[in-house]
Amino acid sequence: LATPLHTTERDLAAPAAPCDRLPCHKSSVCSRSYFVVVMVFFHVYIINVILLLFYVHYNSGQEDANRSRDAPSSNHQRPESRRPPSKPEFLRDVSLTRIEGIRVGHVQKVSLVPGKVHEMRTLSMKPLLFEIPGFLSDDECRVVMQLAQLKGLIESQLMVQDGQEELAKELNLSPEEIFNLLDINQDGQLQLHEVYILTHSRVRDGIWLTPENLREIYAGLKADKDGNGLLSLEEFRLLSNDAFQRFLLQRGVKRSQLVRNSRHTWLYQGKGAHQALQDIKTKVTRLTRLPPVLVDLSEPLQVVRYDEGGHYHAHHDSGPVYPETACTHTRLAANTSTPFETSCRYITVLFYLNSVEGGGETAFPVADNRTYDEVSLIQNDVDLLDTRRNCDKSNLRVKPTKGTAVFWYNYLSDGRGWVGEQDEYALHGGCVVTHGTKWVANKWINIDPDYQRQAHYQQLVAQQSEDEDDALDFNYQNQKQDW
Ligand SMILES: *[C@@H]1O[C@H](CO)[C@@H](O)[C@H](O)[C@H]1NC(C)=O
Ligand SMILES: *[C@@H]1O[C@H](CO)[C@@H](O)[C@H](O)[C@H]1NC(C)=O
Repeated sequence: LATPLHTTERDLAAPAAPCDRLPCHKSSVCSRSYFVVVMVFFHVYIINVILLLFYVHYNSGQEDANRSRDAPSSNHQRPESRRPPSKPEFLRDVSLTRIEGIRVGHVQKVSLVPGKVHEMRTLSMKPLLFEIPGFLSDDECRVVMQLAQLKGLIESQLMVQDGQEELAKELNLSPEEIFNLLDINQDGQLQLHEVYILTHSRVRDGIWLTPENLREIYAGLKADKDGNGLLSLEEFRLLSNDAFQRFLLQRGVKRSQLVRNSRHTWLYQGKGAHQALQDIKTKVTRLTRLPPVLVDLSEPLQVVRYDEGGHYHAHHDSGPVYPETACTHTRLAANTSTPFETSCRYITVLFYLNSVEGGGETAFPVADNRTYDEVSLIQNDVDLLDTRRNCDKSNLRVKPTKGTAVFWYNYLSDGRGWVGEQDEYALHGGCVVTHGTKWVANKWINIDPDYQRQAHYQQLVAQQSEDEDDALDFNYQNQKQDW
């Protein structure tokens, strides 16, 4: 570089070099002025490249240290994004990782335990759903089932529930108002599928009604006086609010007529829990790539047993989030009185603890359906939510295989690295077990779609555990003094 630089300097010092000496070359590439221009550009270019390299080098050194602080302000431009003022900022503007599905059938390798690689297959894009064979070892499956039995399982659903009656009283609706609420197409008649939606929402977690049941109830109550299979307002008015339920209770309800027919228990996974339970939690954290604190602060592991004939009709693990909705896990921290509450289960991880001899698949009735329409779930007497009858009409079914885990997102992304709207396609249920017993476990990861509420909640928990640690230290010191 030394020589051309030299030349350049000299040229600049003597710009009026006699070009006319070689007139024929005035505009050729050999001319001095051309050379000067090229060299100036060349040097400017080299200096730019060097500066750029310095810049990149310097920045990448800092990036890791700053990532958690800087990234969110770009990823997460919410107006209320200012941080809470007090000290332990556990979840300062975090961006949640969402695993990419790519396409159905796509397989990606995941590292969950040292020295082993698992394969994760995309089962559907709507909802974003994955399957990981061999997620749990045989020992882990056995230990979880044994611990659950030791703790004792309870009925997942009681036979009679009176909640709906109270709700109707509280809302103080007249028969006309209820009728209008139900009469979706506003034709002044209640068609079967309209009453159906009523019974699904009113008898939620209660008694499951099939079209035959409904006809039977109509007949039993002599509700449909003109016998045309429809209820007019006059006919409806003659029924009491809980007429359907009362009729069924009088007639007797079998377990198979409930929304779910299973037994379950909860296993705590924190400090001091069985090592297998803690290992499972660690694997879930690696699998979902979420901040460990979110997994730590989620619900315990739920273990469910379905005996032969057991089922769970299609449902959502978590509800839609309106401004008036609070999350169960952050409700106390939020200090608000909201009319609605849901469990805000961002992710469901479902583990199969045994291979079922017959039936017991997990059905996703509308997985990857082109469109979704709640009313179309029940058509021509076919109720896609009914997993005792219509599992074969579900878009997707997962066969229970020992050790396999499936997981899916119950909410969409908000596009800024946080939890967005409920994913309606995440509808799922447990098909009836035709042979043997089915054991599964559920790990739900609870995240409040309201970022500030989640942050506040975590702060409170952190403060509390700090206080507890202090108390422990204090006790320990006292004991030492006593000795
Ligand atoms: C809850 O809110 C009320 C008023 O909205 C306030 O007076 C009270 O101090 C709050 N409690 C906590 C624990 O923040
Ligand atoms: C599934 O998609 C089809 C085609 O778009 C549609 O006709 C049908 O109603 C959808 N099913 C549901 C339950 O929305």
